[in-house]
Amino acid sequence: MKKIWNLETKNLIQQRVELYGFVDNIRDHGKIVFIDLRDRSGIVQCVVDQNNNFFSLVKNLKPASVLKIIGKVQPRPAHLENPRLETGKIEVAIEEIEPLASAKDLPFEVTTDGYEINEALRLRYRYLDLRRPRLQKNLRRRHEFLLFLRNFLDALGFLEIETPILTKSTPEGARDFLVPSRLYPGKFYALPQSPQQYKQLLMVAGLERYFQIARCFRDEDPRADRQPEFTQLDIEMSYVEREDILNLVEKMLVEAIQNLYPQKKITKIPFPRISYEEAIRLYGSDKPDLREDPENKDELSFCFIVDFPMFEWKDPEKRWDTFHHPFTQPKLPDDSKDKDEIIKVLESNPQILLSEQYDLVLNGYEIGGGSLRTTDPDILIKVFEVLGHKREEVYQKFGHLIEAFSYGVPPHGGIAPGIDRILMILENEISIREVIAFPKTGEARDLMMDSPSEVNEKELKELGIEIKGRDLKNKKDEK
Ligand code: AMO
Repeated sequence: MKKIWNLETKNLIQQRVELYGFVDNIRDHGKIVFIDLRDRSGIVQCVVDQNNNFFSLVKNLKPASVLKIIGKVQPRPAHLENPRLETGKIEVAIEEIEPLASAKDLPFEVTTDGYEINEALRLRYRYLDLRRPRLQKNLRRRHEFLLFLRNFLDALGFLEIETPILTKSTPEGARDFLVPSRLYPGKFYALPQSPQQYKQLLMVAGLERYFQIARCFRDEDPRADRQPEFTQLDIEMSYVEREDILNLVEKMLVEAIQNLYPQKKITKIPFPRISYEEAIRLYGSDKPDLREDPENKDELSFCFIVDFPMFEWKDPEKRWDTFHHPFTQPKLPDDSKDKDEIIKVLESNPQILLSEQYDLVLNGYEIGGGSLRTTDPDILIKVFEVLGHKREEVYQKFGHLIEAFSYGVPPHGGIAPGIDRILMILENEISIREVIAFPKTGEARDLMMDSPSEVNEKELKELGIEIKGRDLKNKKDEK
């Protein structure tokens, strides 16, 4: 006899089966007791009557305890069938039962959808929260979605390549998470805000088509659609035009949705391409929600926003910043990429430059961003100068990239769809926390692991770090 999923019992009438799972619910009818046994596949009703020698054991079982059950699958009498249960036409007559673990009373209900429960409590006991069917479904869908993307890209000759987590600062517009180095006291690694520079270096290396389901880290305040660590489907390709990349992403998402979410309706295919200027003029936003009926939870309205300005003026700091990131190719308003002219404008009039950035928008959310890249070291250095970096500083921070570009660099570009946001929308969730197994709270804490947390003096000493203003810090923690 082999272990089977609970749901498989429905096709195994009159057979002996071996089942494992949690006690979802227990109903004591005096002379007969019903156990709803829950495993990942679903629930099956198991039944025992008073003639069994383990009847008293069953009577004392508590919800959430873990069981092994051996029993015979039998049809239920017609009037006792449960149409709400997939296994509702059968039940398992218990022949042997073995409690594998007992359970304390759970801090909350795990059979409901959970929205009614305080989120901090759910996250404190996330391993219990994840038992609820809604979150089990979300994690399964996430797996299926990522598997589809992986297979789709593999079939087109993309290689999945991992890049370092301990790395050096790359500007993506947020603060870095820093990791102190023990071997080089006073020096720090940065966690990647994205694999941007590595994927470009893979193009210099001649890999041509790269992807990675990449974890990214940005020290910014979390929101419903923002986490300090999140996942991108990071893509980079050599020898491409903008439309090659947009078409690839469009085809990939359309096929994924048609396969995995056939009930969803995509408003328009091909996805509209809208210039930044037009988006602002027509919709007042570069993330327009183009749904025909925003009440319809199964409508998906994609669009690409293109032709962004290269720079934006940061008023409080009185400086230029890039709209996307400094590696994006600037272009003149008439689409020309004449090098001499671009350099001239970078020196005199940077605000008129557009760029080869594109964003992917879904139902009013930015779900992806990318660009064709600057591969000309002179233009790249000039862009950094507009951002206020001195030439020596540029070499110090990005010399590796500039040097790499001097050894033959294929023209390249890429994009990075944000997996958490896409799944949040596909699953009609209100926050990306609902599609991430172990998210941080809105205050960037992991309440289950109690992180961030203090480290001991010995570790700090090894790192050559002294914490200033401990009292101040403790006060903040008490809040
Ligand atoms: P960008 O910074 O636009 O581009 O990020 C791409 C996509 O990642 C998602 N995203 C986030 N999701 C959850 N929490 C966050 N804090 C968060 N920040 C970003 C969004 C966003 O559209 N290296 C470039 C890509 C490229 O140029 O190829 C990049 O990271 O869905």
